[in-house]
Amino acid sequence: MSDSTITPWVVGNWKMNPMQANSQQLIQDLKQFLEHAPITEQQCHVGVAPISIALLSIQQSLQGLSTPIKVVAQDLSCMAGTGAYTGEVSAELLKDSQIDYVLIGHSERREIFGDDVNKVKAKVSNALNAGLQVIYCVGESLEQRESGQAEQVVLQQICDLAAVVKADQWHNIVIAYEPIWAIGTGKTASPQDAQNMHAKIREGLIQITEEGQRTAILYGGSVKPENAVELAACPDINGALVGGASLNAESFYKIALAFSKQNN
Ligand code: PGA
Repeated sequence: MSDSTITPWVVGNWKMNPMQANSQQLIQDLKQFLEHAPITEQQCHVGVAPISIALLSIQQSLQGLSTPIKVVAQDLSCMAGTGAYTGEVSAELLKDSQIDYVLIGHSERREIFGDDVNKVKAKVSNALNAGLQVIYCVGESLEQRESGQAEQVVLQQICDLAAVVKADQWHNIVIAYEPIWAIGTGKTASPQDAQNMHAKIREGLIQITEEGQRTAILYGGSVKPENAVELAACPDINGALVGGASLNAESFYKIALAFSKQNN
């Protein structure tokens, strides 16, 4: 079971959304909710992951909030440093722009954009070496779940991670378990199924690192205000990676509130 001192994380993955005016509006709305009823950093780490060209303007718009919101990149290059790599943004360049968090291994990257194990490992390694905090995504497909392979697939993804994280870098890892069949489909894993997988991930992490007890493991896949409270009550679910519902400030705020309550 999780160390009860883990601070939950609730991160909005905006994916390839929305248009600029809407993203600014979304941030203004979210700021209003947070200014009216703040969620402290001790209660929950709240973050948003906008499209790459909006990272800095969103960061700018979030300044001055009493509760800082973390700005998270959705991806980064598997190439490090600077160089002749057209279209790429490296870990060092993110860090240089004060972007300190990044999602890596999201199933959409793995499935649609060819992020294979080697690329994912290079990205994790580059991110950690540049001093970024990584939200590493894992999850099985429906086929894998139905053929009884879910646990094996997810634990293999944790082993892939372990192959590149150095002993003193584990504190910069957050895990997001996102069953692929639950992403954007409206189908959520039942809290019990999600908790079972989270407990397996926790067991695996504890075997690999002392930090395993303290690593936040987020759930992702159709998280909404309606299911957040139940998910947040599970002992090994330490937050959420939220797609669709994060594009509505009220829904996202309510989800963050549901998880932050666990840590009052
Ligand atoms: P969803 O997406 O909440 O829309 O299912 C989650 C994610 O892909 O991170």
